[in-house]
Formats: sequence, C-alpha cells, structure tokens
Amino acid sequence: MKSLIQKLTDTFSPSGYESAIRDVIRAEVEPLADEIRVDALGNLIVRKGSGGKKIMIAAHMDEIGIIATHIDENGFVRFTGIGGVYPRNLPGGRVRFFNGTPGVIAMEPMDKSTESQPLEKCYIDVGATSNKNHPIKIGDVAAFERPFLDMGDRLVAKSMDDRIGCAVAIEALRALKSTPHEIYFVFTTQEEVGTRGAETSAYGIDPELGFSIDVTAWGDTPGQKGFSMNLGKGPAIKIKDSGMLSDPRIVNWMIKTAEKAKLPYQREVLLGGSTDARAMQLVRAGVPVGCISIPCRYVHSPSEMVDFNDVQNAVKLIVNLLSNPVDL
Ligand code: CO
Ligand code: ZN
Repeated sequence: MKSLIQKLTDTFSPSGYESAIRDVIRAEVEPLADEIRVDALGNLIVRKGSGGKKIMIAAHMDEIGIIATHIDENGFVRFTGIGGVYPRNLPGGRVRFFNGTPGVIAMEPMDKSTESQPLEKCYIDVGATSNKNHPIKIGDVAAFERPFLDMGDRLVAKSMDDRIGCAVAIEALRALKSTPHEIYFVFTTQEEVGTRGAETSAYGIDPELGFSIDVTAWGDTPGQKGFSMNLGKGPAIKIKDSGMLSDPRIVNWMIKTAEKAKLPYQREVLLGGSTDARAMQLVRAGVPVGCISIPCRYVHSPSEMVDFNDVQNAVKLIVNLLSNPVDL
C-alpha cells in the first residue's frame, strides 16, 4: 500500500486539472469495478455491487496548487492559490508548472513588525531574467513539488490531503470481497476550491447515504491547542466540522462497527474546515452522511504527515461498514 500512496502523492493534479491523477487511479480501480465512468466535472465514479442501499463514498483526488497572475519585467512570477495556500508554508518551497518548468518560491523582505504575510508578497523564481520569451503565461498552473518520504509508521508527502483518502478508498475497494449494497466510490474533483465535484456527482448518483474520506487536523505537536486528534490513535469518526453536522445515525453506525471489529477510532469535532460530505448532505432533498478522517499533521503544507496504522485501520473500518446490511 505504501507504493500506492507514493504513486498517488507524487502525481501533480491541482483542482480543475485532475486528468493525471484520474489516469493513475483509474488504472488501479478498473479491474475491481462493476462499472466505471467519468462525469462532466471529471469525477471518477466506480460502482461495486447492486441491490441493497445506494451508498456514495467520496475521496477528493485534487490537491492545492498555484496559478500565475502576473509576470514582472524581471521575470518573476506572481501568483494566487488554488485552494487554501498559506504564505507561511511557501518560502523555500518548489513548484512545477504543467509545461515542466520548475520554480522556487520566495518572499519579499518583510518589515519585522508586520505579522501577516500576504500571498502578494510571495513570488516564483523560474530562473528567467525578463518577461520576454518567458516560459510561463498568465493562467499557467503549478503544483507543489516534494517527494514522498517513508519514516516507517509515519508517512510524509505533499497532497496527503486527500490522496491518502484516495488510497484508503482504493484499498477498501480491493479488500471488499462482496457487498449487499450498490456502492459508488467517487474520486472527486475540485474539493479544495469548494467541494464542487462532490456536488455534481452526488446529484447524479442520488445516494441514500454516504460518507467522505478525508484528512483532518491534529492536536499532538508543540503549541497545537484545542483539538484532541492524535496521529496513530485510529481513524477519526467525524461528528462535526465547520460546514457539517454528521447524521447521528451514521456516526452510530460507524462507532458500533469499529467497536464490534475491535478497531481503534477517535471522535472528531473539527473547528475549521469541511469535506465533500457537506456537499453530499445538501444535494437534492438531502442525504444522511458522515466522514471518516485520517489525522494529518501540517495540512496544506508540502510535508503533510499521516500515521500508516491509522490508514490501514481506516481501510478495515470501511470494509466492515460495507460488508454488512445497514439499518440506520
Ligand atoms: Co485540503
Ligand atoms: Zn481534503
């Protein structure tokens, strides 16, 4: 599974530009699917089983990135974020544009009294000396570049958000021998810019219930307060985030299943951020949903860290959830 995680996180596919990661995922899931299709927004929809309940499981395959807004006369590229790009995580980092051009991110010297570091103070140096014959055009998109790192239990990469969710979904699909349900695993697009792929794919599928698989924040590093999630203590069962209250029946189903299978889990109340489940919950006449989260340190930095045991336990939990009849 680690080599799958490496393959997924090393692929460059910011929101709206998911074709590369879709091809990688499609090659993994094609032999496991009863039916596979891509919808108008690029969501990869994989059906397994028929009859029983119609269940949608969403993991977003896009990642944060940047888009060029201006090239100055000395050849420096100004940019804005695709998704939540935090200036404090950028200086010294590297990006790669879709035409192959690499760049390093730097920040203008800042007045020490200035606490905030706006994105407008950052620029990308691609080695150019003027804006004549420049390799980058306005609107060109780049992804962050940082290779996968295996520390044993701890795995580090860019785009663990949410390629780790994609890896969990793929492994759950692989491990699911049979199911009484009609399950739609959806590898969604454009989550980082507002859960847009989940909105259209959920509308098309019209599920009876569902959940997302995504990363959540962490509380177990220096200075990190007010959030009790720890790496290695199990996948998290979401009860609330800033965009959604999970359906209590879904939370119950997940907790009962985890306890029956003797799997570790954590109860999650996330103060900031939300997931594809929010869009699924509000589609059409509404859908009961929840979310299984992988605790992840340094979210939206180029070095997002997860614990491999949490990842494997999330796979087991999902296989248990989908193997048996659901009675909410
Ligand atoms: Co994210
Ligand atoms: Zn995410």
